[in-house]
Amino acid sequence: MKLQVDTARCQATAMCLAVAPELFDLGPSGIAEVLIDPVGPDLAGTAEDAVLACPTAAITLVHD
Ligand code: F3S
Repeated sequence: MKLQVDTARCQATAMCLAVAPELFDLGPSGIAEVLIDPVGPDLAGTAEDAVLACPTAAITLVHD
């Protein structure tokens, strides 16, 4: 599976980093960047938590 961040929707709230620091970082412009691609099954739950945590619904988890 793969995580995608809609850069137009991201408001740099960093909630994704709070719940999934192994999966996200903030880039130079403050927009979230995905650190791991593809996301393995061991991090599927964490990835789903990040999707739910984003207040602007900028994160999508795409299943294979
Ligand atoms: Fe952006 Fe949502 Fe993360 S607003 S910083 S993708 S929690």
